[in-house]
Amino acid sequence: MQTFNLSDYLLQYLDKTSATPRNRQLYRLLRQAILDRVLPADTRLPSSRDLASELLISRNTVLYAYEQLLAEGYVEARTGSGTFVANTVPDAIYLPVESAVRKKSGASKAQLSQRGHRLVAQAAAAPRQWGAFVPGVPDVTQFPHRVWNSLQSKIWRKPAISVLTYGQGGGHQGLREAVAEYLKVSRSVACEADQVVITNGIHQSIDLCLRLLSDPGDVAWVEDPCYWGARNLLAASGVRLRPVRVDAEGICPDAADLAEVPRFIFVTPSHQYPLGMVMSLARRRSLLEYARQHGCWIIEDDYDSEFRYGGRPLASLQGMDSAERVLYMGTFSKTMFPGLRLGYLVLPAILSQSFVTGMEELHRSGQASLQATMAEFMTQGHFNSHIRRMRLLYGARLEILQQEITRHFELSQVCAVGSDAGLHLTLRLPAQCDDRQIAREALAQGIAVRPLSSYYQDASHTESGLVLGYACVEEARIAPAFALLAAVIRLHL
Ligand SMILES: Cc1ncc(COP(=O)(O)O)c(C=O)c1O
Repeated sequence: MQTFNLSDYLLQYLDKTSATPRNRQLYRLLRQAILDRVLPADTRLPSSRDLASELLISRNTVLYAYEQLLAEGYVEARTGSGTFVANTVPDAIYLPVESAVRKKSGASKAQLSQRGHRLVAQAAAAPRQWGAFVPGVPDVTQFPHRVWNSLQSKIWRKPAISVLTYGQGGGHQGLREAVAEYLKVSRSVACEADQVVITNGIHQSIDLCLRLLSDPGDVAWVEDPCYWGARNLLAASGVRLRPVRVDAEGICPDAADLAEVPRFIFVTPSHQYPLGMVMSLARRRSLLEYARQHGCWIIEDDYDSEFRYGGRPLASLQGMDSAERVLYMGTFSKTMFPGLRLGYLVLPAILSQSFVTGMEELHRSGQASLQATMAEFMTQGHFNSHIRRMRLLYGARLEILQQEITRHFELSQVCAVGSDAGLHLTLRLPAQCDDRQIAREALAQGIAVRPLSSYYQDASHTESGLVLGYACVEEARIAPAFALLAAVIRLHL
């Protein structure tokens, strides 16, 4: 289980841009951690000097917070040995508190099922979802909201009964058709509309696959490194994860991997997450053949391949599959905006009706007016033109970031990989660099990056690096933000 790291937690939640003074923020965060018993009685708090230097804030800020906690009885000073969480904390502890600390730390372990505990203890979603260099977030300020608004208003002028009553498990029929058409043309996905299930994103698509196709103890291959969200969902469901290395051609199972036949193979063939390579044709063929021979399900996560800056657009793995072993999933989180929460799952024909029924039973499909608007947005051509416009914008931002990287570093020290597509690139760092520490120090400077090592499961081949999103950073902000990050990195080279 993850252990609670006080300075990581404080760094994540201290907000430099907030109007609330930092000493008040620190006091409240510590108080909440004590109330949630994440900092249990008798825990020794770090010295004010140490905490100030870890958080890169002044010692007075920490002293203020400690004194306030002392005055209110949350902590006590023990002469010569430091500041400790008090044994009896004020009455507020009896109030039901639900906070970020409780959610992240698994503090309520006693009340959760094993599955619930696995899910919560591994949670890795960042509280910050905007700005330099948050990975995986598109520029939502560019979304053509007026067009969207007029399409939506038209639907609401005289809403159809089908938009207002209980929905069908597969989602709004018009959207299923529009998605099938789009995927056939743009991604060479072989499908008809009744194989498409509209979900609220890739997370829900994975969850649905797991609920309908997995039993506890089944084995799932995951790329190592891989997307933390998928890994956590798989692990929480009771599936046994087998991390499989990737090389320049994508997932690269060795003899030991092949010997233990998995139920699932989770891959990102068009743009490996987070390293960015494309799975080679040879690797695609052998993976499909292995899945056919052994009856495995391949889960193809095609999360951001609409944004390709070099070379030809790539076809999906699903389009090459003649044995119906691939479950293909995509999302509107990157092409539209993440708050929309819409995605799609394309199923082999033999599974589609069961998935429609499963979706109905689990989630009672809804959001029909939203889905109808999305369908109109696609069929009227706005979707394709928005993608085209964003591809140019992100391509320009990528170029600026690449220039900054080469301006600040020699290629032999720090190099960018995986930048042919998507909304992020990965900076590889020398092996001795502690990327988690760099990410912490960068966050204290207002720069959010994810350490590459945190995407690995097998510690024996972890690499050091940083995952940087550039799509949601204005052009003028890229150079100054990268200069701050570069200064932090330089301290560790
Ligand atoms: C590889 C990968 N898959 C899936 C997702 C999540 O997609 P959704 O928002 O549709 O759940 C992300 C989000 O960043 C991702 O990076």
